[in-house]
Amino acid sequence: MKQSNRERGAVIWFTGLSGSGKTTVAHLVEDKLLEAGVPVEILDGDVVRENLSKGLGFSKEDRDTNIRRIAFVAHLLQRNGVFVITAAISPYQAVREEARTMIKDFVEVYADAPLEVCEERDTKGLYAKARAGEIKGFTGVDDPYEAPAGPEVTCHTDQESPEESAQKVIDKLVESKYLEL
Ligand code: ADX
Repeated sequence: MKQSNRERGAVIWFTGLSGSGKTTVAHLVEDKLLEAGVPVEILDGDVVRENLSKGLGFSKEDRDTNIRRIAFVAHLLQRNGVFVITAAISPYQAVREEARTMIKDFVEVYADAPLEVCEERDTKGLYAKARAGEIKGFTGVDDPYEAPAGPEVTCHTDQESPEESAQKVIDKLVESKYLEL
């Protein structure tokens, strides 16, 4: 497998609830792209919030600012031939559409796991805190999550393995001619 056009990467934009598997699948996609010798960067929500978006909170305004920053950096890299994987909740449809319009080479991946499953996993213990009222405005609990209307890929992370989900993303990149076998 190789990159179809060295001057054109793509932005693989994960969206989904906390605990839906975005980061896990993103890293598997990264591994597969690296194996193919393709330049790749990950912009993970938790990591971005430690540096690029340090100081931002979780109001709609701050989340939109966070997403616009991620989209801006992703675009800079992508237009230089890099495959960029973003993994932030990105709960609002409108700002995801803004990112799509700006970037164009945009592959939206919906990490679709039911809230109950994410909550059951509670990988970071944050759903329990949100239910206890210790965190206010937690996505899926007392803050909205707008599912994408037409994602290029939907990963049913409660039904398929992370490996299967990652392969679906790679297959879509081949189908969309970003990669060739
Ligand atoms: S986004 O809404 O702006 O896209 P982002 O993906 O960067 O969110 O950050 C989400 C992560 O921040 C979660 O995985 C969780 O670890 C943490 N977090 C802390 N407070 C909240 C909250 N109120 N809602 C969602 N996630 C939160």
